[in-house]
Amino acid sequence: MTHAQPDFLPLMEPDLTGNELEYVTDCIRSNWISSKGPYVARFEEAFCDYLSAPRALTTSNGTTALTLALAALDLKPGDEVIVPDLTFAATANAVMHHGGVPVLVDVSETNWTLEASRIETALTPRTRGVIPVHLYGRPCDMEPIMDLARREGMFVVEDCAEALGAACRGRPVGRFGDVGCFSFFANKILTTGEGGMVVTDREDLAEKMAVLRDHGMDKSRRYWHEFMGYNFRMTSLQAAVGLAQMERLDQIQAARRRIHGLYVEALADLERLEIPAAPPWAEPVCWLFSLRFRGPAAGPTRDRVMASLAGAGIETRPFFHPLHRMPPYAAPPDRFPVSARLSDTGLSLPSGGRLSEADVGRVAGALKTALDEAGESGMATTR
Ligand SMILES: Cc1ncc(COP(=O)(O)O)c(C=O)c1O
Repeated sequence: MTHAQPDFLPLMEPDLTGNELEYVTDCIRSNWISSKGPYVARFEEAFCDYLSAPRALTTSNGTTALTLALAALDLKPGDEVIVPDLTFAATANAVMHHGGVPVLVDVSETNWTLEASRIETALTPRTRGVIPVHLYGRPCDMEPIMDLARREGMFVVEDCAEALGAACRGRPVGRFGDVGCFSFFANKILTTGEGGMVVTDREDLAEKMAVLRDHGMDKSRRYWHEFMGYNFRMTSLQAAVGLAQMERLDQIQAARRRIHGLYVEALADLERLEIPAAPPWAEPVCWLFSLRFRGPAAGPTRDRVMASLAGAGIETRPFFHPLHRMPPYAAPPDRFPVSARLSDTGLSLPSGGRLSEADVGRVAGALKTALDEAGESGMATTR
C-alpha cells in the first residue's frame, strides 16, 4: 500500500481548495512570513466568532497550546492532573513537561471519554486540575465535569484537538473549561499544516498566555522578561491557511457529516461492528470515522481486517495505545480495562471530506469481505 497507488485511499486529506493559496501568496508578496502581520489577528478573530469566545490565541501546534495553558495556570512540579488513559500522548506530555504528574483514569465504555464519576475516584490532595479529551470528535459530558471541578477547586483544560465544532448540550467544546486547546495538524478538521489555538473567557489567563507565548517578554517594555516564556507563536503563513479554512469550515464539517452518514448506512447490518450513537446531550463531529469490533476475538479480527484493507489500498488506523502500557506513563493494567479493550479493538476508516459515495462503498465492501474471511477462519464471532 503506497500513496503513489492511483486508487489508494488515505485515512485523511486536507481540503485546501478555498483561499489558502491566495492568502499564503499574499504573505509571501508582502513579506509577512513570521508571526507579525494581519493574518494571525484575523485568524484569531474568526476563531473567536466561530466559538463565541472573547479571546483566542494562536500557537505553533496543539501540544504547545496545552503546554501554554498549563503554564498560565501555574502548574508546578508534583502537581497532579487527571487525564484519560485513552488519548494521544501529547495530553500527558504537556503535564510532564512542567514536572506535573498525569494521573491516568479509565474512560467510558459507551462514549470513550473521561466522565465525572471516574475523575472523582482519582482525586488526591495534590490534584490541581483535569484535562478532558474530546476523543475522535466525541464530546465529554462537560457539565458534570465542571460541577465537580468547581466543587474541588480544580482547573479544567479541555483538549479539543480532535473535536473542533463538537458541542455538549448546544455549547461548543472548548468553551466550558478555563482554557480550550485545539490542534490544526494536517489530519485535523481545520488545518494550518502545524498549528494550534487556545481559547478562554478569562482575561487574566489570556494576557498571561500572550506574554508566555512570546518568550515571556513584557508587552510594553521590549526585551524585558518578567517571566521565563516560550516561543509558541504561529506564523503568518500558517494563519493565512487557517483563515481560509475558517471561511469554509461549515462546508468542511458538512462534507464530513455526509461521509459519516454514508458509512453508518453502509455498515449498519454488520453485527461484529459497533458504531456508537451519540448520547442525547452530545453533538459530535466526524473527525476520523471510528468504530470498534465486538466479540471474543475482536482484537485479532481488527488486526486482520486492517491488513486486508491495506492490501486493497485502503489506509486505516488503530486506536491509540492506552497511555498506561507505554514506558513514560506506565501504570498497573488492571485499572484501565475499558481503554485497553477500546485500544485493542478500535479502528478508524478513511474520513477525508472529499471521499465520494463510491469510495465509501469501496471501503465498506472491502471491510465486509475481510470480516467474512475472518469469520470463516474462526477469528471472530458475532455478539
Ligand atoms: C487528543 C490530542 N491532543 C493533542 C494533540 C496534539 O496536537 P499537535 O499534533 O498539533 O501538537 C493531538 C494531535 O495530534 C491530539 O489528537
